[in-house]
Amino acid sequence: MRGFAHRQRMQQMGLRREDVIGRPIIAIVNTWSDLSPCHAHLRERAEAVKRGVLLAGGMPFELPAMSLGEVMVKPTTMLYRNFLAMETEELLRSLPIDGAVLLGGCDKTTPGLLMGAISMGLPALFCPAGPMLNDRHRGKTVGAGTHTRVFWDELQAGLIDDAEWVRLESRMTRSPGTCNTMGTASTMTSVVEALGLSLPGASSIPAMDSAHPRMATTCGERIVAMVGEGLTPKKLLTRGSFMNAVVVQMALGGSTNAAVHIVALARRAGVELTLNDLDAVARRVPVLANLFPSGDRLMEDFYYAGGLPALMNRLHDELLLDELTVTGKPLREQLEGREVIDDDVIRPLDKPVSTLGALAVLYGNLAPSGAVIKPSAASAKLMRHKGRALVFDSQPQMLAAMADPDLDVDENSVLVLRNAGPVGAPGMPEWGNLPIPKKLLKQGVRDMLRLSDARMSGTHYGSCILHTSPESAVGGPLALLQTGDIVEVDVPARSLNMQVAADELARRRAVWTAPPSAYSRGWTQLYQRHVTQAHEGCDLDFLQGDAATPEPVIY
Ligand code: FES
Repeated sequence: MRGFAHRQRMQQMGLRREDVIGRPIIAIVNTWSDLSPCHAHLRERAEAVKRGVLLAGGMPFELPAMSLGEVMVKPTTMLYRNFLAMETEELLRSLPIDGAVLLGGCDKTTPGLLMGAISMGLPALFCPAGPMLNDRHRGKTVGAGTHTRVFWDELQAGLIDDAEWVRLESRMTRSPGTCNTMGTASTMTSVVEALGLSLPGASSIPAMDSAHPRMATTCGERIVAMVGEGLTPKKLLTRGSFMNAVVVQMALGGSTNAAVHIVALARRAGVELTLNDLDAVARRVPVLANLFPSGDRLMEDFYYAGGLPALMNRLHDELLLDELTVTGKPLREQLEGREVIDDDVIRPLDKPVSTLGALAVLYGNLAPSGAVIKPSAASAKLMRHKGRALVFDSQPQMLAAMADPDLDVDENSVLVLRNAGPVGAPGMPEWGNLPIPKKLLKQGVRDMLRLSDARMSGTHYGSCILHTSPESAVGGPLALLQTGDIVEVDVPARSLNMQVAADELARRRAVWTAPPSAYSRGWTQLYQRHVTQAHEGCDLDFLQGDAATPEPVIY
């Protein structure tokens, strides 16, 4: 009866009965929207995927999903990553689907789509949107994110004028595609490729290169075969594949945001992985990819240098090469012959971009469950630092103070922002790259130690300690810090402490009360009640784990 109803309704859409009988039904979950500039080309790419599905004997159906254009969504796309994950999982569960191609790439779309697909458990293949093209300004290559921050600081310091800023606005984001620095988008699409969930080399192809639609067609072709092989995410995701992904994150100088997303993905897959695993790899694997913000090149250069397979080939001693990928073959076979073409962009192991590491996990009386910093994009002189805290309870309060010419601050101060975590903000926005006070910018200061329970854009740089856990809004010790307290950080020793006596902390704890929530209904209220802390992946507690969900009952 159910099959009849499906066939009947397919014919209502103009399909023939034989078009759907005996063919794998493939969902193309598409995060395109008019307000997602990084995904502006994904409608066309969906057509390329459909071509591949049809050529392989399947029948494709495109399903729109929440788009999450990073810069457009307020207050932060992170508030909605888990929403997209739920939507993806339930789309694939509730509709008559055999396998899925996931179209995304802008920051949270990648983990969101994958978390949902992992939990659903159907064969799934991720088709990355690809990075945007490089641009030039005054003879120099410029890209998205990192340059935005550099030029914004120059504008605040009076080194460029408004007219030049307006010109720059149209130059830094040249084409559809994701940010072309090693920000969260390129980090996560590369991580997913290293996990084995994308075609080899897919994540490095620029969005506007003709190789990109060809890759999308191959995704369509391959998912049909994966359905026949029963190649589900569960068969690809092991502790080994996650450790490969972590190695890639570190060698790329990847975004600190990956520390949250990788843990969330692992928990969905039922794989044991903690921040300590990430820290251990970061101590061992140097940054080899010479890409902003750790280096000085962009993703288009990375593609010409051989892309991710070439980087991974160079790292093969660090990788578990027997892990399977969506090709059905082990990683070893995917990397054969993929040599680096440009040693300046993908550095040899003995000439890394940085040996400081792409991530360090700090613990102490300010972060009992951990905090992270990206040493490779920070100032070496601030990796051991002691300074007076200047504490802000909200982002508006902090932003107003930064513009104050009389602010009591110097370059040794530690700028602190709290109530910016998963529950407190809510959604843990990318506020952790606190701006340098305007008066210090004018004195030439470009970096200071900054501390928060927020995240930071992967495209940004600076000595920013992030993801402090537990966050202040749930009573983490950051809530007890006061302006004037001494904060001491020692990144090589992985420590983060405030020099405040235990009895004084107990006194402050006794009078502390949690900030009230402004949300009494809706998604945000559900999110605040169930989101986990940064070191646990910021998933919703009831979505974690790999317990089976019963198939919907049908009549
Ligand atoms: Fe979409 Fe950066 S804003 S990837």
